[in-house]
Amino acid sequence: MRLWPRSMAGRTFLVLLLGLFLVQLAGLTIHALDRIEIQRDNELRQLMQITTRLWRAIDFMPTFQRAALLERLEPPPGVRVTIDPLPAVRPDRPILPPSLDTQFREALRRALPGQRFRDAAVGGGANRMDYVLSFRLADGNFLNVRGAAARPRPWHSPFFLAALLLMTGAVVLLAAWAVRRLTAPVRTLGEAAERLGRDVNAPALPEKGPREVAQASRAFNQMATRIRRFVADRTEMLAAISHDLRTPITRLKLRAEFVEDEETRAKILHDLDEMEAMIAATLAFAREDAANEPLIGLDLAALLRTILDDQADLLSEADAAKLHYAGPDRMVVQGRPIALKRAFANLIGNAVKYAGSARVGLLPPDKGQVTITIDDDGPGIPPAELERVFAPFYRVERSRSRETGGTGLGLSVTRTILRAHGGDVTLANRAEGGLRATVTLPA
Ligand SMILES: Nc1ncnc2c1ncn2[C@@H]1O[C@H](COP(=O)(O)OP(=O)(O)OP(=O)(O)O)[C@@H](O)[C@H]1O
Ligand SMILES: [Mg+2]
Repeated sequence: MRLWPRSMAGRTFLVLLLGLFLVQLAGLTIHALDRIEIQRDNELRQLMQITTRLWRAIDFMPTFQRAALLERLEPPPGVRVTIDPLPAVRPDRPILPPSLDTQFREALRRALPGQRFRDAAVGGGANRMDYVLSFRLADGNFLNVRGAAARPRPWHSPFFLAALLLMTGAVVLLAAWAVRRLTAPVRTLGEAAERLGRDVNAPALPEKGPREVAQASRAFNQMATRIRRFVADRTEMLAAISHDLRTPITRLKLRAEFVEDEETRAKILHDLDEMEAMIAATLAFAREDAANEPLIGLDLAALLRTILDDQADLLSEADAAKLHYAGPDRMVVQGRPIALKRAFANLIGNAVKYAGSARVGLLPPDKGQVTITIDDDGPGIPPAELERVFAPFYRVERSRSRETGGTGLGLSVTRTILRAHGGDVTLANRAEGGLRATVTLPA
């Protein structure tokens, strides 16, 4: 299983290569066997021509001359010719392998006209490729020829090996090129989906190339457009509702002035003020989101330090000393500067507001992610509410009554911004007390 590649390109390449190699091997083998057949055919034709001529010549020769002729005869290497009283081909002797037998008979038939064929016989020898031929002579003796047929060895031809190597090389190059080209659109699509996760306004995919690829790109672009429209519609609706709520609230405020009981009036006005603040925050978020900042390379370290400095400016010197930054001097990530600044300002602002201290840590990229931690020594958040504080306008009961409490939109805005960047934020209570906010962003 280790040899089975994980990538689609690798798998296609391997299957293609194996298939083409087998096809080539089969093709070349067929070709080589064919060549051997022709060679054998030639070889046998020659053998038969020589032996049948010899037979005819010897048949009319006086016996005493035959020995002299055989002596002077120079048969091809490995071939032995003798004159014996008995035929070398006999029913109790081994026979030739079927295919060879057919070839020999065919060659004999071609070399001998009609009835003479009955006086010739072919048979096998001790080894698989050994053959014997027997021809009956007029005087009752036999002319016996013994030899061995050449063994077919297709792999031993240098032509065969060279052709195989050459064709395999060509196939490897071609297959690699084709597979890379074929799988490129899949990679592009994957990258585009990844980009869309970080940035809904990422540029559209080009809708060109082969029909299927163009179709997939078109479908992907349509999906991206729908997502964009969906997000925009929601934001617009949010802005419209917030905007329209302002008028009735103003009216309510005027009417509240007529409430006789002073305490009730003060409470109503306070609630209305709070509602106004919530609506203003919502409207601000909706407007900013609609602004659609572009993604650029920005220095995250500088951004974090600027936020800390801004916070320190609002504090006394003793309190400002409780803000720290630990991390590299520079780290560039892709992001929307205003949105990211807002997200981190919310987290650091919370630490300052609810704990009076903030330690920001920036960790170097790991597995394509940078991690930012914001620690404080405050009261933390009850475990059951760690997730709930991300809901819009949700605030932990303690801070609700305090003057410090905001509108409760900060964390949900922060999470929205970070998720739109392909990152996230989570909260956890530290073992030593206080809260830790952990932010991840794609490096
Ligand atoms: N560092 C922290 N320590 C303790 N409690 C926290 C901390 N950060 C947030 N909280 C709690 O989570 C609640 C939600 O925070 P969030 O930032 O969303 O709203 P907010 O700070 O109340 O208002 P806003 O940020 O919109 O001005 C806060 O009201 C507070 O009770
Ligand atoms: Mg806040």
